[in-house]
Amino acid sequence: MLHSTLHRKDGGDLFMEQVSLAEIAQQYGTPVFVYSEAAIRSAYESFDAALSMHPHEICYAVKANSNLSILQLLAGMGAGFDIVSGGELMRVLRAGGNPSRVVFSGVGKQDWEIDLALEHDIGCFNVESASELERIARVAEVTGHTAPVSIRVNPDVDPRTHPYIATGLKENKFGVSIDEAFDLYKKAAVTPSLRIVGVDCHIGSQITDLTPFLDALARVLDLVDRLAARSIEIDHIDLGGGIGVQYKDETPIDVAEFASAVGQAMSGRPQSLVFEPGRMIVANAGILLTRVNTLKTNEGKNFAVVDAAMNDLIRPALYSAWQEVVNVADTGAQERTWDIVGPVCETGDFLAKDRTLAIEEDDLVAVLSAGAYGFVMSSNYNSRPRAAEILVSGENHRVIRQRESIEDLFALEPIRE
Ligand code: LLP
Repeated sequence: MLHSTLHRKDGGDLFMEQVSLAEIAQQYGTPVFVYSEAAIRSAYESFDAALSMHPHEICYAVKANSNLSILQLLAGMGAGFDIVSGGELMRVLRAGGNPSRVVFSGVGKQDWEIDLALEHDIGCFNVESASELERIARVAEVTGHTAPVSIRVNPDVDPRTHPYIATGLKENKFGVSIDEAFDLYKKAAVTPSLRIVGVDCHIGSQITDLTPFLDALARVLDLVDRLAARSIEIDHIDLGGGIGVQYKDETPIDVAEFASAVGQAMSGRPQSLVFEPGRMIVANAGILLTRVNTLKTNEGKNFAVVDAAMNDLIRPALYSAWQEVVNVADTGAQERTWDIVGPVCETGDFLAKDRTLAIEEDDLVAVLSAGAYGFVMSSNYNSRPRAAEILVSGENHRVIRQRESIEDLFALEPIRE
């Protein structure tokens, strides 16, 4: 199975680690996100171990799954964090993460966010434009800080991924060109409220080919050499995130191969490496567990309406993403081809199309690879309370986010009595 910690007990019911998913649904209701602690640990540890030959820092991309307990787990394993907002910084702090190991990415940092980050002495601002560099310098000067900065370069390489998640092409909004970066470093070097610490890039997400990473690194190293010739020294090189995972039949990049190729390109260089992986740490550690509500057939097409919808998991609707769907139990139903859809009033509300499954009403199904960009992208569309999140560890399981109630939906909407 795609998930290292999912298995069928005695060939029958689906378990995550030692816990029955039917029991999880029974106890906590559906729809529910369920994550495996062992799977997260093993993804993090295998990446960390592969990189052991070169000084490095793994700054987990909080946006992939920002649940406090997940962040706490990663902080406990020594992870740093890649954040993109003041809210994510507060999450990291609440979860016990070390702010000095935080890198702050994103094209539209606001003054209060910069201020908050300076106050907590974060490790590095990944700066995305000339204007932002000036803004950070100004906020730092006013508040009496020296801001550690890295310029995000856009190396103009094609990561060959979905256009919505490709970020390293020159027509994207992210980073600056290598030439502009060179000029910004010269400027930063003479600005007293700034301290140059790194250079960074992030070329896209769900990348399954090693070449674009190496091309990007080569271009970044070229810039590092140009800067060194001007006596501008760089301490770390941040290659961003983006390593893809297997959803269907992709062959993900082998982390050992990745690490050795990157290590080789870095040999003899003093800079440490920073990575910002999100998806590869959590995607295949989590599932969305949902119950079949209604089966119906329109014009020969079979629809299984489940109790999860696009508001819970938007990746299929937004990116035409393919995520595997499996039965939790074998109920002996006849196999048919189904579209797995939610109750939301949109044709785009589907979780999967044309899947061969043996299901009946009230059966449980699991949407796999839902640990990354799942719950975090969920909404209350159609006034649907957001799902609960459960963390499984060995034979134990606990709520790490309660299911929202209908009352929660109204909590911030005062009406006149
Ligand atoms: N660093 C930066 C600056 C990023 O923008 C991202 C993701 C990452 C790191 C982490 O990338 P990862 O290792 O997870 O690929 N919602 C989309 C993915 C959006 C990715 C945005 N940036 C999806 O569901 O596929």
